[in-house]
Amino acid sequence: MSDESRPFRTAAVIPAAGRGVRLGPGAPKALRALNGTPMLVHAVRAMAASRSVSLVVVVAPPDGATEVKNLLAEHALPERTDFLVVPGGESRQESVKLGLDALPPGFDVVLVHDAARPLVPVDTVDAVIEAVRDGAPAVVPALPLADTVKQVEPRADGSPEPVVATPERSRLRAVQTPQGFDHATLVRAHESVTENVTDDASMIEQLGLPVVVVPGHEEAFKVTRPLDLVLAEAVLARRRANDGF
Ligand code: CTP
Ligand code: MG
Repeated sequence: MSDESRPFRTAAVIPAAGRGVRLGPGAPKALRALNGTPMLVHAVRAMAASRSVSLVVVVAPPDGATEVKNLLAEHALPERTDFLVVPGGESRQESVKLGLDALPPGFDVVLVHDAARPLVPVDTVDAVIEAVRDGAPAVVPALPLADTVKQVEPRADGSPEPVVATPERSRLRAVQTPQGFDHATLVRAHESVTENVTDDASMIEQLGLPVVVVPGHEEAFKVTRPLDLVLAEAVLARRRANDGF
């Protein structure tokens, strides 16, 4: 910890308002069960597992705030953590903004964590928080890529897409969440950046401020397509087996 004399207060905002179109028909993605427990509850527990996180703000599907409140009441969560539930918006960015608007004063560090990454280990969460406490305005957990990535010229008509470039793979990283921020800087970014973005750190980049990377974790993958549900349940089964012996 960089400064023992000043207690940093950390909150986590969990955008969970997406429908989960790529997962296929069914309940909103965050409410789908993994080994019997809603994905969102796993994600909330993953944030509350960090002793540094004292408040978790869940951004629920726009018409599902009451259902999410009930879910959190039904499932065991750490007593040292406070919880708030607010309704989300049309885009992820809008949902994160609604979560930030609901934060009470007094938080120096804010994490933004996808409900769709229910299995991120606590060590990754703590590494992100620590890097923000050490002075970085924005921190992202990330992993090297296994696949080579091609930049293409997209074709709406379904014809083969021409390749435009092949970025050097060793310089690329796949970025996960939780992303960690100096609270005031993230609020400023959400006020001034209006273009659509797919993560929060890119808004900090647009402000011209540094974003740093800490090691991500393979269990922090995003549940996006049906096969990811199989993988997530396998990870949970492996954890249960390891805990039991
Ligand atoms: N999210 C949100 N509000 C939205 C859209 C997305 O809070 N309007 C959240 C999702 O609930 C998810 C996270 O942002 O936890 C990452 O988004 P993604 O994985 O794309 O989830 P969905 O948008 O639900 O999935 P899809 O794009 O397949 O519809
Ligand atoms: Mg989406």
